[in-house]
Amino acid sequence: AETHYHEFVVEAKPVKRLCRTHTIITVNGQFPGPNLEVRNGDSLAIKVTNRAKYNVTIHWHGVRQLRNPWADGPEYITQCPIQPGATYTYRFTIQDQEGTLWWHAHSQWLRATVYGALIIYPRLGSPYPFSMPKKEFPLLLGEWWDRNPLDVQRLAQFTGGAPNASDAYTINGQPGDLYRCSKQETVRIPVESGETILLRIINSALNQELFFAIANHRLTVVSADAAYTKPFTTRLIMIGPGQTTDVLLTADQPPAHYYAAARVYQTAQNAPFDNTTTTAILEYKSAAACDSKKGKFSAPVLPSLPAFNDTATATAYNVQIKSPSRVQIPTQIDDNLFFIVGLGLINCTVPNSPRCQGPNNTRFTASMNNVSFVFPRTTSLMQAYYNGIPGVFTTDFPPVPPVQFDYTGNVSRGLWTPSRGTKLYKLKYGSSVQIVLQDTSIVTTEDHPMHLHGYHFYVVGSGFGNFNPRTDPAKFNLIDPPQRNTIGTNPGGWVAIRFVADNPGVWLMHCHLDAHLVLGFAMAFLVENGNGPLQSVIPPPADLPRC
Ligand code: C2O
Repeated sequence: AETHYHEFVVEAKPVKRLCRTHTIITVNGQFPGPNLEVRNGDSLAIKVTNRAKYNVTIHWHGVRQLRNPWADGPEYITQCPIQPGATYTYRFTIQDQEGTLWWHAHSQWLRATVYGALIIYPRLGSPYPFSMPKKEFPLLLGEWWDRNPLDVQRLAQFTGGAPNASDAYTINGQPGDLYRCSKQETVRIPVESGETILLRIINSALNQELFFAIANHRLTVVSADAAYTKPFTTRLIMIGPGQTTDVLLTADQPPAHYYAAARVYQTAQNAPFDNTTTTAILEYKSAAACDSKKGKFSAPVLPSLPAFNDTATATAYNVQIKSPSRVQIPTQIDDNLFFIVGLGLINCTVPNSPRCQGPNNTRFTASMNNVSFVFPRTTSLMQAYYNGIPGVFTTDFPPVPPVQFDYTGNVSRGLWTPSRGTKLYKLKYGSSVQIVLQDTSIVTTEDHPMHLHGYHFYVVGSGFGNFNPRTDPAKFNLIDPPQRNTIGTNPGGWVAIRFVADNPGVWLMHCHLDAHLVLGFAMAFLVENGNGPLQSVIPPPADLPRC
């Protein structure tokens, strides 16, 4: 195993998109940032120097960071932010993970432009469970804002979402040729007729789940969230922010150009967007050659993508994702948790203030089990726990909703009264945990991509409407459920996950739609140390930033 050293300089840089030049925050002047390539078992040391004017942290999304929460990255959860002018080196080892993960800023909405792929190859000599092509191509799906994303964040945070739509969707930072002034830079995926390539698809968009397809071609899904899947062939994929999907693509169509396109599934606004198709071009080399003889490119065909509200298609796709073979899954549950999640409205304390954009003098909020999460300001949760600093958090996050009601029915607001707090849920080392995440319909039903830091979990079941604790568990898949780090709740539905709490530390769980995260759509687990040093959090590095 090797150690990879990288320097990440976080700095402002002008880039041109949609006809205009904007100064954005980048890593090493690149947008998207550098893609890292490592092998399972390798270590990384990434020295992050902050030359921007904002605090920043970097999160290695999906890396389990065993006993090493200090390298996880969410600001005020496992570390204080790296302040302008400061440096912090993230040191961690990839332990038993292969496939595609990614990294992103975990500080305000900086991940809008600060992100890149983290590609993990198997150990030298260790085989893939599928026939791995020689060529691969990463596709990072993202969003572009003409305004400073941090200004858009403030609007989202205070008004609850209305004007937070981005100005373009992007593939590897490029909107693609359906958007103005974007034709030359459209991403091209070169293929030879007959060959198979691996596409590593990452949804790094801030606030949108996406459908993705390539015209006239089928995709074979082989991995999701750096866990291999039973291969299956599909016309399209659905991918939520935070998730990754590796697919095989065979260039088996007549040589030509074909669009690879992504478009929104669900929107925070529950309104269809027209201007939302980002494209790359799958370019058969023989077609490129004959096109350039003629001095022009033939127009590519667009794949047909489902409507933004086509939940049936999204669900039919998602349920196909399974582990390749029988998995070891906890069957006796120690912590049986039921979390209601969603957006809600709270009364405004300052009537008619600009923050009160909800109906009848209310403002938007978001919560899990009626607790709207408040990030600490003076230190991180992990440091507070490790150093025994009192008053930073409490450990009374409720294991079940404080009030029972018809979560997806016609709910009255009186049943739903979120409080604000920095509440953690304590887990004993080695505890078997089940969490049912139940969407609610207080404002609108929505598929929330729920991400758990520090863990991979098994997705044992999902459904629509209210979870039924008497009948639904009997239908759980305890044989070959997929292993994920981010999973959608289903709009107006639920999802059930299981994991063993074998990674001590403080680990955030949140909706990976950043518009929701800033409204308090989060909670955190405090997983206690087990017996002995091999079950305990390692000491913090000397350069851990101070608040
Ligand atoms: Cu990918 Cu807490 O984030």
